Amino acid sequence: MAGSTFGKNFTVTTWGESHGKALGAVIDGCPAGLSLSEAAIQEYLDRRRPGSAPLSTPRKESDQCEILSGVFEGKTTGTPISVMVRNTDQISKDYSAIASLYRPGHADYTFDAKYGFRDYRGGGRSSGRETIGRVMGGAVAALILKELGIKVHAIVTSDLFEVPAQDSIGGVITCTIKGLPAGIGEPVFSKLDARLCEACMSIGAVKAIEIGDGIKVASMKGSENNDAFAVDQSGNIITKTNHCGGILGGMSTGGDVILKAYVKPTPSISLEQETVTREGTPTTISVGGRHDICIAPRAAVVVEAMCAMTVLDLLYENMHARMDRILDFYAKD
Ligand SMILES: Cc1cc2nc3c(=O)[nH]c(=O)nc-3n(C[C@H](O)[C@H](O)[C@H](O)COP(=O)(O)O)c2cc1C
Repeated sequence: MAGSTFGKNFTVTTWGESHGKALGAVIDGCPAGLSLSEAAIQEYLDRRRPGSAPLSTPRKESDQCEILSGVFEGKTTGTPISVMVRNTDQISKDYSAIASLYRPGHADYTFDAKYGFRDYRGGGRSSGRETIGRVMGGAVAALILKELGIKVHAIVTSDLFEVPAQDSIGGVITCTIKGLPAGIGEPVFSKLDARLCEACMSIGAVKAIEIGDGIKVASMKGSENNDAFAVDQSGNIITKTNHCGGILGGMSTGGDVILKAYVKPTPSISLEQETVTREGTPTTISVGGRHDICIAPRAAVVVEAMCAMTVLDLLYENMHARMDRILDFYAKD
């Protein structure tokens, strides 16, 4: 399977399936000398765990991480960091009834169409559990960003409400990146906004991304949408407003970067829906098992992780943007 590695300079490769023995991540590009513990990664994982958020599944996944490599005496060694979480609460028999049917809103049909073979016990690689690896990568990226005074934080900003029996709802996650210096992001094909959108759209169930005023800009006037420049008390150039969401020309302005991720309703619902079998015979399906009523609360930390890794990757990239900086780093007196 191609496409399991994210990033260029700071990379995470996620592996594992929802009903396999374990899931994990190989994180590369972390400098040596960073203090790193399982507890620090676990803090992030716990925010994604079922039961940790409103309207989440009653599955009891303890999701305890184990660091397998890349850390010695509490510090990173500069070598690949491998982290793993064992699957402990997977009930494969919940899925036996739907082995030969396609669940609406899921990747069952497209997986079959592509590979001709599917692990029907759950979503496999397209399961929400795949995001465990992303969150572990994001936790490491966030620790490096913290050293630089950069903070990434995502929360649910849409209303959460209980739905009528057997159905599900969608939601909106807003992510704010604070402390990012101006000029991060590479024109033209590696713009900060383009890279953030790619990162967040790769999360299952995320269907749209907005930066700053987002889709509203199409109905605004230039005078309303432009952010006037000014100088703050310390002499820094700032924008007086932030309609651009902290990004101009694909590069950070130095203001807060604001991103919204729009999440679809959980596809697994126990309401009866029309579908077909693998052979194309029409039938109906009611998806049992234990699922989130709304995915957004548990996906917030995943958005945060993807944004943290994107920003770190582009901060690394920016290190060779100017001759004077390269000289500062390498030139001998
Ligand atoms: C953190 C997270 C948790 C998820 N939990 C569930 C779930 O409990 N039940 C479900 O049907 N889908 C869940 N999903 C969504 C499906 O994985 C996703 O909708 C499906 O693979 C189809 O992909 P698409 O929506 O991107 O087209 C979850 C996604 C994420 C990111």
